[in-house]
Amino acid sequence: MAKPRNRPLWCLSESFVLVGGVFLSLLLVWSFWSFFTPTPGNFDPSSADPFSKLKKNPAGDCIDSGFGVNLKSDPKEPTFYDDPEMGYTLEKPVKDWDEKRKEWLKRHPSFAAGARERIVVVTGSQPKPCKNPIGDHLLLRFFKNKVDYCRLHGYDIFYNNLLLHPKMNSYWAKLPIVKAAMLAHPEAEWIWWVDSDAAFTDMEFKLPLERNCQWSMDLINTWSNMGPIGKDYYKWGQIQRSTFKDKLFPESDDQSALIYLLYTQKEKYYDNIYLEGEFYFEGYWLEIVGNYENTTERYLEIERGVPKLRRRHAEKVSEQYAAFREEFLKEAGNGKGSWRRPPITHFTGCQPCSGDHNQIYAGETCYKGMVKALNFADNQVLRNYGFVHPDLLDSSSVTEVPFDYPADEGPW
Ligand SMILES: *[C@@H]1O[C@H](CO)[C@@H](O)[C@H](O)[C@H]1NC(C)=O
Repeated sequence: MAKPRNRPLWCLSESFVLVGGVFLSLLLVWSFWSFFTPTPGNFDPSSADPFSKLKKNPAGDCIDSGFGVNLKSDPKEPTFYDDPEMGYTLEKPVKDWDEKRKEWLKRHPSFAAGARERIVVVTGSQPKPCKNPIGDHLLLRFFKNKVDYCRLHGYDIFYNNLLLHPKMNSYWAKLPIVKAAMLAHPEAEWIWWVDSDAAFTDMEFKLPLERNCQWSMDLINTWSNMGPIGKDYYKWGQIQRSTFKDKLFPESDDQSALIYLLYTQKEKYYDNIYLEGEFYFEGYWLEIVGNYENTTERYLEIERGVPKLRRRHAEKVSEQYAAFREEFLKEAGNGKGSWRRPPITHFTGCQPCSGDHNQIYAGETCYKGMVKALNFADNQVLRNYGFVHPDLLDSSSVTEVPFDYPADEGPW
């Protein structure tokens, strides 16, 4: 993983893997629920209170707790969860997942409606404190970045900090987590893995998605057997090395394994894997972090001429403003080198938690790059709260965004 390879593959770029056909984490929803659930009885259904209309759906089910989904009902009819053969571990392949998931959605109709668009972002880090004294702080900020991103787009997020399979470590560790997340979230169509050292740096970016399923379960099964839990782990390393001449180390790794599957079994995998070549998902930090200021300036320049882009609004409706902005970004394109905000900036080789950065980068450069990326992203969020970091390298710098600032001055 020392150097990013130039692979236009968004399903499995170095910073993220996307598995379609499964479901959503309730973590954030639950925390909201515990803060905001009104005491039953506070609402008089006969009153003219507009909120009272929201309390009951036509079937009379209480749907007050979950943004239109019913978090309080789990019918007692058996589902796949009641099957003693069903296991969350990689050793127990799941069969007939599409039917099982469909069945679960049938029993939980409030989730069925939005199932096709539902996304759960999954990320995580090690179980123990970081060796790098500021590692945990950096991970917190990387996580905050993902939480912000998910909140802006209505996605759920699950943070795992446990190695779920003792043999599946480092880059293989995501596979058991993604499988467990698929099973935990039958309501979600997509499971989106994002590395802990990757930051969303365009908070308005949305994946252009169309699909998830048994196929994904089978892929995880075949794929993970090319890793340390497989009996041919050693052999796969040799095969990968002889197939991919630029592979740097002898052990089988997750990306070479997947590329190998794509390469050798096109008919089986190509139809369900989308090879994205339009966006710069690799997001190699060294190529990006020097451009944030100029990108900010370009965006500001656009905003100076377009008052509706400067208009203050509730965070919940941010996607509308992203859509407004899009027409002014078209000419930037989406590829590498574009002045558009990069969707993801990935700190390959920096290792925020251990601090064992690749020797070709100075530790200082890695650190400054991360701080800059995180503040660049945070500025896109903070703005909805009325504030901004004027200095990308100073995380504690803060100024208020003036109301509809004069046309020749930016808010930062
Ligand atoms: C940013 O813009 C300035 C002024 O146009 C230019 O001189 C500079 O090279 C740009 N920086 C980068 C990193 O592109």
